[in-house]
Amino acid sequence: KAKDVATTPPMGWNSWNTFGTEINEQLVKDIADAFVDLGLRDAGYNYLVLDDGWMAKERDENNNLVPGPNKFPNGMKDVVDYVHSRGLKFGIYNCAGNKTCAGYPGSRGFEYQDAKLYAEWGVDFLKYDWCNTENLNAKGAYQTMRDALYATGRPILFSICEWGDNDPWKWGEEMGHMWRVTGDIINCWDCKVGHGTWSSLGVWPIIKLRKEIRKYTGPGHWNDFDMMEVGNGMTAAEDRVHFAMWSMLSSPLIMGNDLRSASKETIVTLTNKEVIAVNQDELGIQAYCHSDEGELEIWVKPLHNGEWAFAFVNMSKERIEVDYEWNRHPVKDDLSNRELKADHIVYKIRDLYNHKDLGTTKTNLKSDIGSHDVLMLRLVPDIK
Ligand code: DGJ
Repeated sequence: KAKDVATTPPMGWNSWNTFGTEINEQLVKDIADAFVDLGLRDAGYNYLVLDDGWMAKERDENNNLVPGPNKFPNGMKDVVDYVHSRGLKFGIYNCAGNKTCAGYPGSRGFEYQDAKLYAEWGVDFLKYDWCNTENLNAKGAYQTMRDALYATGRPILFSICEWGDNDPWKWGEEMGHMWRVTGDIINCWDCKVGHGTWSSLGVWPIIKLRKEIRKYTGPGHWNDFDMMEVGNGMTAAEDRVHFAMWSMLSSPLIMGNDLRSASKETIVTLTNKEVIAVNQDELGIQAYCHSDEGELEIWVKPLHNGEWAFAFVNMSKERIEVDYEWNRHPVKDDLSNRELKADHIVYKIRDLYNHKDLGTTKTNLKSDIGSHDVLMLRLVPDIK
């Protein structure tokens, strides 16, 4: 696979959550403009990814994929060039099966031909789905496409979209740069919607299902908790929690909302540089749950330089008061073998959503947190 790609969790936007297959040239250009105008590019979002639905229903007489002629009348290179001209990278979608999930031509049997075409267009990212793959070995199918992308000589980020049935975290590091860990996200705090053999999951069911696979994530290879639903209808507080948790978990931060009509509040959340810095921390360690007793959950993520990120999440329907003594329950990450030494090091505390300093760990943390909201902190050793 391409080296020096995704050394920190990829950041960008994907069309699927909001637009499904209703995508076209004008939308891509408008979204690219919005990246720049809203400060999203400057905040670090750089991949604009077109999901399923970009193709015509058939390959051409040479078996090349063809962009939908009504959706992309000037072809895909024109669109890719526009996205590049705005200082962004371009991502595209296909599927390991004979057809994509929405019934467009899949890459099975055409992997090298398709990869070459993407490279000619200047594609920087491929999301590779897992529909219509009966009798295919998952690891082998992703390996074929990995090799096809590598053979183009263009550094293309490979985003594996298998939903967890074949434990993609066990082989994902070898095959790609990120892999989905569940079925599709839906826009809710804690719901699940069954579809027969699979389910869509809200924010917390996804987190709870996959909190144990921390050890597979790291620079160049990431557990992908799915495209975000920030700005798609949860409360502003729930969106803050969703964004905080994707950052804590070192998940790719792929926006899934309509940037053209996003509210100010949504953009403030998505461009919060102090929260993004936690996601982009160079160690790339996925947070773990320190405490989930009662209505307050405490998640912890070790950062570089002996710093730590904390997310205190109010799971209840009421506002709660927090009075937290830093060294009462030792904070130790067995995976990275790091320990927060609040008993003999003083840490300065920074509130990442309110952009305020909150004193140090010498005294108890006192705060109140609204329902389904988060207090997200960065602790920095106070070394004089
Ligand atoms: C299933 C994937 O999980 C989704 O993210 C999306 O890519 C759709 N397929 C597209 O059909």
